[in-house]
Amino acid sequence: KSIRKLVLGNWKLHGTLSANGSLLSAVREGVANSAITASCDVGVCVPFPYLAQAESALTGSDLAWGAQDVSAHASGAYTGEVSATMLRDFGSRYVLVGHSERRMYHAESDQLVADKAKIALDAGLIPVVCIGESLAEREADQTLSIVERQLAPVLALGSDVVRRLVIAYEPVWAIGTGKTASPEQAQDVHAAIRKLLGEDGASVRLLYGGSVKGANAASLFAMADIDGGLIGGAALNAEEFLRIAEAGA
Ligand code: G3H
Repeated sequence: KSIRKLVLGNWKLHGTLSANGSLLSAVREGVANSAITASCDVGVCVPFPYLAQAESALTGSDLAWGAQDVSAHASGAYTGEVSATMLRDFGSRYVLVGHSERRMYHAESDQLVADKAKIALDAGLIPVVCIGESLAEREADQTLSIVERQLAPVLALGSDVVRRLVIAYEPVWAIGTGKTASPEQAQDVHAAIRKLLGEDGASVRLLYGGSVKGANAASLFAMADIDGGLIGGAALNAEEFLRIAEAGA
């Protein structure tokens, strides 16, 4: 496969200056002492207040960093929001948009997620558009129609945008539950997503997320349309995260 893999950590609502300091330096050291980044991109998406810390800890390394959300607005009277250009100011490369936890707890719509992807790209960030079905939707055989619906406003942004995205498929029932989708289950959905993207999808990285661990990463990443992972819980442990990144290399 010619697509370069990407392993991205999502710290979610975790961390302190001191815990992050140890985690960032352990990951930086692990990557420096391995050949991982010769063939696999690695990064971490941290809470906003720790972007400066990530920037200072990771500048000069092969690791990238970024945020877990971004405002759909460029600037203005939007209290509490953080803009894409602000994320760029701290050297961010990636930003997650539409994580299921944002869709669920902050009522983010498919259109809002597409708007965020667009503004992030325009600011020079790589948006990681997260999609995926709930357990009830999977049981009702709606997986493909859900991801299709979630992607529709993103695809409407056109080829120029779509080609530069990263997409993360995260079945909601697999997030933080210890229930990973089997490699075959994930591959089936990834192949369907690739098809939805048409010609633009040939080089788009499709990440799998949901209870990825050191022990199951290699079998997931071996699938034809799985180009890496979006890692939650396991990204908080340097050794485990590095094992996953090794699997991507
Ligand atoms: O963004 C990461 C995903 O939500 C997966 O989280 O690895 O803790 O299941 P998890």
